[in-house]
Amino acid sequence: MSIVPVAAEKHSSPPKMSTLVFIFAVSFLTIACHAAPRGQCKANRDNTVSYTGFQVWTITPHSKAKQSTLMKIIRHYNLEMWKETNEIHEPVNIMVPPRYQKEIRLRLEEVKIPYDVEISDLQKAISNENPRTNASAANPKAAHQMDWTSYHRLDDIYGYLTYLADRYPCRVQLLNVGSSYEGRPLYVVHITNSTSPNTPAIWVDGGFHAREWISPALATYIIQQLVEEPSNAKLLVNVNWYIMPVVNPDGYEYTHLKNRLWRKTRSPTGSSSAKCQGVDLNRNFDFKWGGPGSSSNPCSQVYKGPSAFSEPETLAYSNFISSKSNEIKLYLSLHSSGQLIMLPWGYERNTFPSDYDEMLTLAKNAACKFRKFTYKVGNKVDLLYQASGNSADWAKSIGIKYVYSVELPINGFILPASNILPVSQDFFRAMDVFAAEVSTLSAV
Ligand SMILES: *[C@@H]1O[C@H](CO)[C@@H](O)[C@H](O)[C@H]1NC(C)=O
Ligand SMILES: *[C@@H]1O[C@H](CO)[C@@H](O)[C@H](O)[C@H]1NC(C)=O
Ligand SMILES: [Zn+2]
Repeated sequence: MSIVPVAAEKHSSPPKMSTLVFIFAVSFLTIACHAAPRGQCKANRDNTVSYTGFQVWTITPHSKAKQSTLMKIIRHYNLEMWKETNEIHEPVNIMVPPRYQKEIRLRLEEVKIPYDVEISDLQKAISNENPRTNASAANPKAAHQMDWTSYHRLDDIYGYLTYLADRYPCRVQLLNVGSSYEGRPLYVVHITNSTSPNTPAIWVDGGFHAREWISPALATYIIQQLVEEPSNAKLLVNVNWYIMPVVNPDGYEYTHLKNRLWRKTRSPTGSSSAKCQGVDLNRNFDFKWGGPGSSSNPCSQVYKGPSAFSEPETLAYSNFISSKSNEIKLYLSLHSSGQLIMLPWGYERNTFPSDYDEMLTLAKNAACKFRKFTYKVGNKVDLLYQASGNSADWAKSIGIKYVYSVELPINGFILPASNILPVSQDFFRAMDVFAAEVSTLSAV
């Protein structure tokens, strides 16, 4: 996703005496606004960014000419794309601020590009996404507050991991592999029921991008199933698991507290604009860092950071995986959305690892297991876009055999919590295929 600096905001005429009080009253609200994408920004009373009136449109160009016209419009208004594709018969999703809706509608009609309004009021969709769960209110003394009927704050997720490590000390270890920029612990859960030192392992991570809430939800669901569901014991036979459910905890908390659509980390970049904070962790890896599909502009959603592994999150993550690179045979990084299982390389078009076909066969076998949602399987650049410095390319570059990044269902970042279980249950079926393959390998 490509975002360039915000155009200068229009300022109203100098304040009159009568408006000074009003300005004082609202000034604290507007601070958070600068973190919103460009467009009319209002803040809610609780100082969160409001997306009232923002819409998400779906557009399928169907011809190269129309695709190019559409891209010009998107660039002209600096619209954020929620879903990109190079394929002209596939829809793209764009977020349209209220103040441009009429103008863009007219331009699209002029060039005969039809569009559908997929979300007519983004703030309503956000408000309806995550009905407050009763669990904690109902039972504050429960051993943990986690469930998969709502999206949880970091405390609930970490509380659950701690609970599992206490409750199942032989099979679950909670590894603190570092700290985020704001000082939150970075946890990897190690799940094992094996004593052999040659046991191969599967890596799963979620929460690289803060707003992709379904990803930590699924990662924690996989942990729950592996640890607490006896019928999944076969998945632990000659396979160890390392699962990091929230790679970007600072960003994740920020999406709960301030701006639901924040993507990057929260580290300062030297820019004073709130929108220009943070690094895209998935462009910060030390493999082909800084190439096409990443940006050196801190205000970009794909800002690569000042140097490879400049961020404490990617540094801790890569140090940990490097230390287990003999063990880890399969790597799975969970993102949303798009229903894609993507294979390296992502830094360049038409460039493939030598064992690409083996990776492809296993991924296709895994995708065959899904019943509810259909995923496309293929090369990352073909299915999505070029992205230099991404984590999956790096994982492949250090020699991990099977490397996949996943775009989960369904469409966009706002996925009502009632979808967590259907998406997770469906995806978990693929674990059989992955574990069966990895169990035949040996950690060396
Ligand atoms: C809250 O609890 C009530 C009563 O226990 C239940 O009927 C309701 O479905 C719960 N709501 C949520 C969102 O879980
Ligand atoms: C762990 O392994 C032992 C022996 O191999 C087996 O009996 C047991 O059921 C396994 N437990 C789980 C939870 O996988
Ligand atoms: Zn992502």
